Amino acid sequence: MIPRLLAAPAPGWTADTDIVVIGSGIAGLVAALRCRPHGRVLLVTKALLDAGSTRWAQGGIAAALAPDDTPAEHLADTLTAGVGLCDRDAVRVLVDEGPDAVRRLIALGTEFDRSSAGDIALTREGGHHRRRIAHAGGDATGAEISRALLAALKDADVEVIEHALVLDLLRDAGGRATGITLHVMGEGQPGGVGAVRARAVVLATGGLGQVFSATTNPEVSTGDGVALALRAGADVADLEFVQFHPTVLWLGEGARGQQPLISEAVRGEGAHLIDHAGGRFMAGRHELAELAPRDVVVKGIMTRMRETGASHMLLDGRHFGARMWERRFPTILAACRHHGIDPVNEPIPVVPAAHHASGGVRTDLSGRTSVPGLFACGEVACTGVHGANRLASNSLLEGLVFAERIAAALGDELAASPVPDEFPPIHAAEGTLVDPSVRGDIQWTMTARVGVLRRAGDLADAVRDLDRLAEPHPAGPSEGARPGVAAWEVTNLHTVASAIARAALRREETRGSHWREDFPDRDDAAWRGRLTTRLGGAGTLTTTYRPEAPEENA
Ligand code: SIN
Repeated sequence: MIPRLLAAPAPGWTADTDIVVIGSGIAGLVAALRCRPHGRVLLVTKALLDAGSTRWAQGGIAAALAPDDTPAEHLADTLTAGVGLCDRDAVRVLVDEGPDAVRRLIALGTEFDRSSAGDIALTREGGHHRRRIAHAGGDATGAEISRALLAALKDADVEVIEHALVLDLLRDAGGRATGITLHVMGEGQPGGVGAVRARAVVLATGGLGQVFSATTNPEVSTGDGVALALRAGADVADLEFVQFHPTVLWLGEGARGQQPLISEAVRGEGAHLIDHAGGRFMAGRHELAELAPRDVVVKGIMTRMRETGASHMLLDGRHFGARMWERRFPTILAACRHHGIDPVNEPIPVVPAAHHASGGVRTDLSGRTSVPGLFACGEVACTGVHGANRLASNSLLEGLVFAERIAAALGDELAASPVPDEFPPIHAAEGTLVDPSVRGDIQWTMTARVGVLRRAGDLADAVRDLDRLAEPHPAGPSEGARPGVAAWEVTNLHTVASAIARAALRREETRGSHWREDFPDRDDAAWRGRLTTRLGGAGTLTTTYRPEAPEENA
């Protein structure tokens, strides 16, 4: 049984605001800044303000900024990468509003790399037929965006609570979101479990890569927003489409936790994937070779690893020379050298690892979830723009564009809704927390059985093993399973892992980043639609299939 509510003990403190934004990556920061004109804003974040995935983004942000590019071409590439499951209206919003949204990001202080003529320098990544990826600091795009947004936040009169794990959504009798419960760990802030009343809640909690044992995601990416939304009864969609990044620095068998990313932009600038005999195995597999959509490259790498019995493949950028590595990819160069690899003189050992959730909390075009008053943007959300496989560098853009849309929608909604005078009811915890000692078992199960290559037997075993891992110990909860950050966080990981495994088992086809060895083909007749997951009253997850993707999204 998945818990319906985490929060216990009862809140020791309360606070009031108009809009609470949870998360401080690009989506959360933009939402907070743009919502501020509509009322008081409280930004809650799990660690330090810049600890989320945005800071780690290397490649960049995609938008049709070049004179020879158009939103229509960006739309076509995005739909192709999404393999028939993108929501075309959402993609149109993304590509049409993207260029101006990027210009507003520049107006806020973001400094993208420029060509010698002073134009924004644009690169290519997998699946893009044009140079349309703006980058900063060579390969430190997310860090620069984060810096600029945090500087803007300082002047914006937004209240901030760091080191706060959000627990549950508060709702009024009509089911509308009216705030959150949270646990604050930082010094100089209200401590312990608290409750914040708000007129709207914006989830921008980022990704869920830590559900797997090796990921590009930072430690904070434990799927807290998806788990909270499930507990609140929201629709969550497309969870089976977890994207694995093709090129993560191989640190040896059994490497765990956050792994160094080798940006797709390295291939965009001309590096080649080779096997241990020096053969370029992507040539001939796809017209774009190393720059095929990400799922195609991952499959190419995994297939070649199998064929040759190798534990990893190699990325060769020796021909760039030292100056290019230093100027264009300083972060990657430093990370490789830190691990004893010098890309100037040797190919980089690479392997795929969990990277991005294409699914999440289902929203409409203004970021509204199925729970009134609860909005979602960024990686936690499923706007439908990614379909079965996200196009590279569309995620920063999605966070930016849909955070702005949420702010626009909230302006109208808050103006029309009365300020509630009652503090929302706070209910006791429901269900049993998962023991933090099983964290590694959850991650291992997901990587081994719900990873890049999937089959029914493994997926069914994963569902069964995850259920077993949540069973309370017959002797009662261990010290660790009592309410506290470790137990709450691992319960979130477990909830999300269980939902992903069930969705992956249900979808009996291969599409995008969901690769079923037992159903190797795309099956439009049976599976041209979306799987939606909900948490029922008894704490059980249900996954429902609805054919809804319009035909023209092929
Ligand atoms: C990368 O730099 O390869 C990551 C970009 C992305 O995931 O969109």
